[in-house]
Amino acid sequence: MKQQKNANLNMLFVIDPLESLVPGHDTSLAVMEEADRRDHSVWWCTLHDLRLARKKPEATLRRIRYAKKKWEEVEKRDLPLEKMNIIFMRKDPPFNIDYVMATSILSYTNKKRTIILNDPDALRTFNEKLGIFEFTEYIPDTIVTKCKGTLASFLKKHKKIVLKPLELNSGHGIFVLEHGDKNRGSLLEMMTDGEQKYIMAQRYLPEIKHGDKRVIILDGEVIGAVNRIAPPHDHRSNLHTGATPRKIKLTADNMEMCQDIAKRLKTMGIYFAGLDLIGNYITEINVTSPTGIVEIEKLYGVQLQRNVVDFFEKISGSGAHRLARRA
Ligand SMILES: Nc1ncnc2c1ncn2[C@@H]1O[C@H](COP(=O)(O)OP(=O)(O)O)[C@@H](O)[C@H]1O
Ligand SMILES: [Mg+2]
Repeated sequence: MKQQKNANLNMLFVIDPLESLVPGHDTSLAVMEEADRRDHSVWWCTLHDLRLARKKPEATLRRIRYAKKKWEEVEKRDLPLEKMNIIFMRKDPPFNIDYVMATSILSYTNKKRTIILNDPDALRTFNEKLGIFEFTEYIPDTIVTKCKGTLASFLKKHKKIVLKPLELNSGHGIFVLEHGDKNRGSLLEMMTDGEQKYIMAQRYLPEIKHGDKRVIILDGEVIGAVNRIAPPHDHRSNLHTGATPRKIKLTADNMEMCQDIAKRLKTMGIYFAGLDLIGNYITEINVTSPTGIVEIEKLYGVQLQRNVVDFFEKISGSGAHRLARRA
């Protein structure tokens, strides 16, 4: 499918069911609306619709248009994925074997015809929690283990730690554990599934009282940031758990760190990501379906979804500009 630069493009969004995405919050919806506004063809599907068939990945796709503040289905078709110019993989975690298989199916798409973001090979290898180990110079003391004894020693060393499952997001399953807490044994047993499952433990950063900063990066650059302040009844600063979005001016140190990470992520095939910063530390790198764009629009009036669609148009241009990995 030959396309002129900025001509009508086929853009596929691989998401959770459309009706489950929350308008006025969801970043995928904001980008889809912007693509529709520019008369690109907006298609969506779930992992359930994806398949490998006749030597090619294909899917049952729905084309939709945004009218009168709601999405309307225009057509439903089985198509090879290579008919799409852009595929934006935005399926929410859990990061489980099914997610991994979906990235493998996407990897078989003809890369000469279709650009997939983030690179499915990178999505498969770059776990959102473990990915911070690519940038150890910027992270707080962190371990990943399934051994209760090692976790107990880590707690003894730091007195207060945060425990995180590796496959979840949006604050799910994140616990703070303090030295002397009698729930320690049960909690470590439960979270490691009796030492069967790896989890992450991280030094508790008291700077969290000033918020968990979400920094949005696109194509190797920082394009926006929002702070998130936890509600009084919860230690977590995720928007999904009731945190309040607030404006934030990143310090020069924060900015330098994020620019460096953004450039390095780009070489890995990760173009759109959400960095989580507590104080001067990087605590998580969201690559599957980072959010924050809508909150940034509400606080600052800037529409980062335009930058995203500009980027899609740029990379699916005449073919001269191709995403170059490790460029
Ligand atoms: N090292 C830490 N110190 C203090 N609080 C933390 C730390 N790591 C995470 N948290 C809290 O837990 C929340 C969720 O953690 P995060 O690592 O971003 O995972 P996810 O957002 O995927 O659930 C953060 O918003 C923050 O409130
Ligand atoms: Mg987070």
